[in-house]
Amino acid sequence: MQRVTSINELNAELDAVRERGLEIAFVPTMGALHEGHLSLINEARRHTPFVVVSIFVNPLQFGAGEDFEKYPRTIEEDTAKLEDIGVSVLFTPTVNDLYRGNMNVSESAGHIGALYEGAARPDHFDGMLTVVAKLFEAVRPKYAVFGAKDAQQVFLVKQMAAQKFPELEIVVAPTVREANGLALSSRNRYLSEADHKVAEQISAALRIGQATSSTPQAAIESARTQMAKVPEAKLDYIALVDADTFEAVTDGFTGRAILLIAAVVGETRLIDNIEITF
Ligand code: PAF
Repeated sequence: MQRVTSINELNAELDAVRERGLEIAFVPTMGALHEGHLSLINEARRHTPFVVVSIFVNPLQFGAGEDFEKYPRTIEEDTAKLEDIGVSVLFTPTVNDLYRGNMNVSESAGHIGALYEGAARPDHFDGMLTVVAKLFEAVRPKYAVFGAKDAQQVFLVKQMAAQKFPELEIVVAPTVREANGLALSSRNRYLSEADHKVAEQISAALRIGQATSSTPQAAIESARTQMAKVPEAKLDYIALVDADTFEAVTDGFTGRAILLIAAVVGETRLIDNIEITF
């Protein structure tokens, strides 16, 4: 595995790869890698053997008072995991290299970007899209892999990529869960043992919503009833959205929908979702 820390070095590495006619798959991450990230890499490898992973904790997608400073930075463990799994290139740019002194947002997540996670975290999605666009420009991959856990991120990245990177295929990999159902997340390491037990109830509520989905309203109500049983999880929202538009669905809807839950457990904001077909 080559580790490159600048766009110049990355270009030198990847131009040679393109000249050999190899396609590139890309997995952007913020590090603190866990099994969920490794499953994204395995998914990338199903498309092409040449996989680039980036690790960059993007200041622009964290709001004031969020966990940018304390976000886990575990580069040595991460590098060892990537060596083990057999990634081709690890890209760890500096803020200066990626933003070149211009920390302004260059992408807008629009109307959907202001809802759900965007309502709780203003500017988060503009900052996320800005860095993802910069990373796509730097890596110029054929495939980019994202995890289904961040459903709204996936929707917005697909929308941006369709406009700005029409040749790029966005691949979505299923959420990896603990045996108890908790979706893997780098932020799970903030949870105490007691928080962990509470957090498990989020995926339980999603499964109950899915199992009682005679109508959209029934699915939302049963997930809400389940969440009410764990008041230690401070519920932010439960929403049911059209998987193709991310607009809220109402009774009478047919097609693929996504049931979303966000809740704060202890000090940690957790999100999860499940797909339901009506
Ligand atoms: O999902 C993440 O880890 C981040 O939002 C991403 C896509 C790496 C952009 O910083």
